[in-house]
Amino acid sequence: MCGIVGYVGQAGAAEAIIEGLKRLEYRGYDSAGIALHAGRDASLRVVKTPGKIASLEEALGKALSASEREGASLAIGHTRWATHGEPNQVNAHPHLSQSGRIAIVHNGIIDNYAALKAHLVEKGYTFSSQTDSEVIAHLVEECYDGDLYQAVVAAVKHLEGTYGIVVASQDHPETIVTVRNGSPIVLGVCDDASMVASDICAILQHTNRVIFLNDGDVAVITAGRIDLRSLQDTPVNREISEIDWDVGTMEKAGYDHFMLKEIHEQPEALANATRGRVTPGEADARLGGLQMEPRDLARTSRIVVAACGTSYYAGMVGKYLFEELAGLPADVEQAAEFRYRNPILDPDTCVLAISQSGETADTLAAVREALRKGCPVLSICNVVGSTIARETGRGVYLHAGPEIGVASTKAFTCQVAVLAMMAIAWGRTRRLSYSDGLNYAAALASVPDLARAVLEQAPAIKVLAAKYAQARDFFFIGRGYMFPAALEGALKLKEISYIHAEGYHAAELKHGPIALLDETVPVVACVPDIPGKVKTLGNMQECRARQSPVIAIATEGDNEVDDHCDEVIRVPACPAFISAIPVVIAEQLFAYYVALERGCAIDQPKNLAKSVTVE
Ligand code: M6R
Repeated sequence: MCGIVGYVGQAGAAEAIIEGLKRLEYRGYDSAGIALHAGRDASLRVVKTPGKIASLEEALGKALSASEREGASLAIGHTRWATHGEPNQVNAHPHLSQSGRIAIVHNGIIDNYAALKAHLVEKGYTFSSQTDSEVIAHLVEECYDGDLYQAVVAAVKHLEGTYGIVVASQDHPETIVTVRNGSPIVLGVCDDASMVASDICAILQHTNRVIFLNDGDVAVITAGRIDLRSLQDTPVNREISEIDWDVGTMEKAGYDHFMLKEIHEQPEALANATRGRVTPGEADARLGGLQMEPRDLARTSRIVVAACGTSYYAGMVGKYLFEELAGLPADVEQAAEFRYRNPILDPDTCVLAISQSGETADTLAAVREALRKGCPVLSICNVVGSTIARETGRGVYLHAGPEIGVASTKAFTCQVAVLAMMAIAWGRTRRLSYSDGLNYAAALASVPDLARAVLEQAPAIKVLAAKYAQARDFFFIGRGYMFPAALEGALKLKEISYIHAEGYHAAELKHGPIALLDETVPVVACVPDIPGKVKTLGNMQECRARQSPVIAIATEGDNEVDDHCDEVIRVPACPAFISAIPVVIAEQLFAYYVALERGCAIDQPKNLAKSVTVE
């Protein structure tokens, strides 16, 4: 949520910030700004605009001469996802202190900003924005006596809430100070420059050598030098991580949208997620990152999954997988509830946090609560080095490559694949037989082919999507593994097309929602040829009896479905335990083409952000 990037080097800072902000735009895109030193003796300049980075780039072009832009040696920038105050120029970051000598950008939420603001107003400070962040700029100035690091440390001691803060100052044209508490900050290690960002995507163009800050870390960065300290002014050592993401994977590579590119990357992403972990001919899954011996797996009495959004729906699939393959009781919790509900955990309960970004605030809070209660906590993350991955310390990376589109696609299918591998690993220490293990592992190794086969249906799905793109409401139904698939299909459609869509268990429709059905409300039925299909066919007839057009997502060659629906999207035959993968890919394509037909901003849907780092 919101993106931060800072650069200090010899020159080229403005360009590095604009480029970094473009890569971060998926995190927030309602307004943006930059503060920079346009030459060593020049004053700190701030340019801010509502809207996207392109507007900022244009405004920067007007505000600064080409030589000022090119010569800038230090800059900090921000792309915003509004929390406090509407998205306009005044509320955009960076915020300046009263004197204009200190500029800050901030991610997170300052819970006690109202009290701090009242205190600062009493001292004569005037505020121009409605944000919680502006207090930070004035506080740093209030604490400043010539040492920027000390001023930042003194200021943040007054803050309650979450923050990743980056500070530049008129008096220190060669220094950026950054500090984190709850909002991610990563530093880029370059030869003759240094970078700071909320996300590695903003840095990778310049370097793949990064340092992830922990809460309470403060970094003083100058060109080619990074000085890490604690809030208590003691030196801090953090290792340099080398990120193997290819910058090319963060480009659209000829696709119109990142979402479409990421949908099409699924065969490769699934191959990467399963490679070396499941092999045909072996009955087990190799997941060294769990750091659990067979006896630890055997000891587990229950799994509790904590996650949000799409990752939560993957977790629901995981529940069925753990129960079916491993005979292991599993619960799935919305991470935001987990923390405040005081869950009952014991040392044999394994908590599993699922998060593509590894930065989701609610999921991170759940992780911390579970760690506090002393049970084993594992994670399934995509972003290497992300906060959840680091704080859990063990788990499984998806290896799906960067996911830039706000709508999660390849992360979901890879999460399901990883959950299936976990279920095999747990299952083999329990009731899963060698021969069943062989079958499951072989089926899992074939998921890239399943994904490929669904992608071949894209042209047909596009035609269907155009036909139904003007509907105002949709229902998605399914049962068993298809229940979470229905929920995910509805989420995908609503978030990028803005059509009201609801996912329901197929059997639940008649307990209320069926009242809404008529010829204007299409129902997407997830009905591949797996257990539960026949019952769902009955539910589809109930929908048709209310004149709702029914679009079935059904197995190739399963003609029994045809009499129960108006349209069919075909997916390849596969065992039930991986059936969510092809069905959800079909739903992703459907949502994408509906949104395309409606002219929506697919990669940056209104009101959303990719990484939700506030509770
Ligand atoms: O990064 P995470 O997996 O923790 O994100 C969780 C949700 O915010 C995310 O899945 C969200 O629901 C997506 N926009 C869905 O497409």
